[in-house]
Amino acid sequence: MTDSVLSPLDADGVAAAVAKAASAIGVATTLDDLKDVRIAHTGDKAALSLANRQIGGLSPADKAVAGKLMGQARGAVTAALEARQAELEAERDARVLVEEAVDITLPATRGLSGARHPLETLQEAMCDVFVAMGWEVAEGPEVEAEWYNFDALNFDPDHPARAMQDTFFVEPASGAKTAESGLLLRTHTSPVQVRAALERRDALVNDGRGIYVVCPGKTFRTDELDATHTPVFHQIEGLAIDRGLTMAHLKGTLDHLARAMFGADAVTRLRPSYFPFTEPSAEMDLRCFVCGGEDAGCRTCSGTGWIEWGGCGMTHPNVLRAAGIDPDEYTAFAFGMGIERTLMFRHGVKDMRDMVEGDVRFSQQFGMEL
Ligand code: DAH
Repeated sequence: MTDSVLSPLDADGVAAAVAKAASAIGVATTLDDLKDVRIAHTGDKAALSLANRQIGGLSPADKAVAGKLMGQARGAVTAALEARQAELEAERDARVLVEEAVDITLPATRGLSGARHPLETLQEAMCDVFVAMGWEVAEGPEVEAEWYNFDALNFDPDHPARAMQDTFFVEPASGAKTAESGLLLRTHTSPVQVRAALERRDALVNDGRGIYVVCPGKTFRTDELDATHTPVFHQIEGLAIDRGLTMAHLKGTLDHLARAMFGADAVTRLRPSYFPFTEPSAEMDLRCFVCGGEDAGCRTCSGTGWIEWGGCGMTHPNVLRAAGIDPDEYTAFAFGMGIERTLMFRHGVKDMRDMVEGDVRFSQQFGMEL
């Protein structure tokens, strides 16, 4: 190769430059190579470009000759570049198809997905039974005032049940019983009864709208965690206040819930008991789901044929008074049961610790119950 500048009138020189470009194009094996070849043979400093730039300075006659020669030469180089570009692109596309192929027949590795906790789905299922009957779902605070947790529910200041409840106090028990004092972690969902009744009192008294609420939520007691106790557990509370409600309405409501939870054959019974906030009070028992009352040696029901599910009763007049409702005009019933216990009975869960440990393999067995 000479360093002398190629003349746009030098037909042999131009043909040689074209031939040189064509051979470089021919040996370019990748798109990157071809890019370099394009710059070398058509870029600003390429011999053909420099020759082309001289045309302007030629005489008109030479200009015509040189213009034609250079036009053909540059056209030939461009065409060769385009053809090779197309070839190399096709090669690359074919290679990528092979190299980046995904074997869709390979088994996929799936990420472990979570699951809703069965206590949560069961709580919703229990609420749904009541919502279907036109009841409302009410919620209250987990850090509750002593007044709502005990006093408004007719616990005397020195009632033994207060100590029996094994309470987590957040603030020391106070002498002055107000709705803000003596903060504690609620030991049951019953304080929500009082809150719900206070909120709906005017609609009851002025518009005759009966109060029908269920209150699900977390409750706390200072129990050690073992197979049948957990310091944080869940209850669902029911409260109905209206004119003329009787124990028969209570029993009918609980039977309906029992059948919705345990099937059409579920059998319940009420057994006399005591709670400060109900009079009369009862425990609600379920026919033993293991022996059906047939096995005197049954370990689940200790041979009694019954297992305790929750407490209930006719709301004590003092509780209605605390909510500003006249017990001579209105009567009320209430009940409360543990959601953990309900899950144990319903699904044969033997150990409460499984419910609190958060192992997704436990939760997943319950699926997405709707
Ligand atoms: N609050 C009671 C408990 O935690 C359960 C209970 C009993 C709730 C009787 C009620 C009721 O509403 O009427 O043991």
